[in-house]
Amino acid sequence: MKAIPIRTLATALTLGAAAAVAWADGDLVRFPENYAEGTHYATVERGNIREELFTSQKAIDAARSGQPLPSGTVITMEDYRGGKLFRYVVMEKRVGWGTQYPPEVRNGEWEFQAFNADRMVNRNENVTRCMACHKSREGQDFVFTLDRMKVSN
Ligand code: HEC
Repeated sequence: MKAIPIRTLATALTLGAAAAVAWADGDLVRFPENYAEGTHYATVERGNIREELFTSQKAIDAARSGQPLPSGTVITMEDYRGGKLFRYVVMEKRVGWGTQYPPEVRNGEWEFQAFNADRMVNRNENVTRCMACHKSREGQDFVFTLDRMKVSN
């Protein structure tokens, strides 16, 4: 067997460590098992896609009074394709989160995670993609549907 050059090995280890860190970050967001007991605040329909959005009443109250969404807020979106549950996407905000990201990536104190229909983390999803898109809503706490929270009960 040919010896593996030390440099290659070191690179592989470094990449491995980087991947582990990326996973650990994503794994800050656990599947919110009780999300449906929160407030359903919006439905978004587009073609054969239907999305059902849930968060806590505390978050809704904050949005309605123009306050930032509180630490501990979890927003869960059920994503249906052709009437069938396809996946969940979740964002969660906690004091002190997000410091590991460079400013151009960071979404305040939010972390993102995608889950398959079986509620397991989708390891193929790159959460920096979520962050890149939600970054455009920086002026409304990185939440696209903040206005929908304001008008819900
Ligand atoms: C290309 C842009 C884009 C990407 C990428 C994206 N989102 Fe979103 N997200 C949206 C839009 C737009 C909405 C509002 C609902 C709608 O119109 O479908 C939304 C809504 C949400 C919501 C409900 C709260 C809100 O902001 O309205 C959550 C939670 C969410 N996305 C999580 C994620 C996660 C997790 C990922 C990555 C796996 C992700 N998103 C990737 C555009 C994006």
